Amino acid sequence: MLSRPGSGVLLFSNGHGRFSVTIADSGTMSSFICEIYRYNPETDRKPWLKAYEVPDKYRYSMVLDVLEYLKSEDTSLTFRRSCREGVCGSDGMNLNGRNGLACTTRCNDLLRGKRKITIRPLTGMPVIRDLVVDMSKFYEHYKSVKPWLINDEPEPAIERRQSPEDREKLDGLYECILCACCTSGCPSWWWNPDRFAGPAALLWSTRFLEDSRDRGERERLDFYDEDPHRLYRCRDIQNCAVVCPKNLNPMEAISDIRRRMLKRST
Ligand code: SF4
Ligand code: SF4
Ligand code: FES
Repeated sequence: MLSRPGSGVLLFSNGHGRFSVTIADSGTMSSFICEIYRYNPETDRKPWLKAYEVPDKYRYSMVLDVLEYLKSEDTSLTFRRSCREGVCGSDGMNLNGRNGLACTTRCNDLLRGKRKITIRPLTGMPVIRDLVVDMSKFYEHYKSVKPWLINDEPEPAIERRQSPEDREKLDGLYECILCACCTSGCPSWWWNPDRFAGPAALLWSTRFLEDSRDRGERERLDFYDEDPHRLYRCRDIQNCAVVCPKNLNPMEAISDIRRRMLKRST
């Protein structure tokens, strides 16, 4: 929230704290402003927002192209990226208040007639530097749901076969790229990051529960009986589905696990 306008310096506050902002330039008709969260724990006492002027030719480019351009001008700017095709999941960040992938989000869709884009790191995760967050807890939860096939039956000579119909049941589950946009945007996870597994991990749990070749249902569901917080902290707020860049619906996947839990208890 903007709290005080003033001669080139603005004060902002949000979930990450309170910052001073130096406006490098208010932008011209041939440019727009990209405000970026900056924090280097070795030199900064607290986070701040830096305003960069971006040539208007980038308006129809992806946010990642702008970050690459700015990085060529200011090598201290730090962010993650790899594939630039929406596949690797490494450039999840908060774009104008909503989590998304920098490589698949067009600047013009964020500008919407305005002249400024604000980029912050994913919410709810500790910031390592600038737009890079510590995703350790996210991966811990991912690992905790055993995102692999559990099947002790003797290996068939060639492969574990699956009918096309059973394979189709995995659609909407297997496409997750672990970008963390959902988990980082989930209010229930902000409040319970140690115990609530979060939407991405739970989506992966469902992906294997649904797999006709998996034999681990009992073990997978026991995991939620051991600590119900892992599953039941979801409050159906659905932020996860709203922000997922792959159009997946983790909330639906969570409901599927709850149905299985109910079925086996009756
Ligand atoms: S539906 Fe559940 S998992 Fe998804 S954002 Fe809401 S509380 Fe989090
Ligand atoms: S479910 Fe969607 S938002 Fe969540 S980690 Fe997977 S791809 Fe990203
Ligand atoms: S850079 Fe790989 S998903 Fe964006």
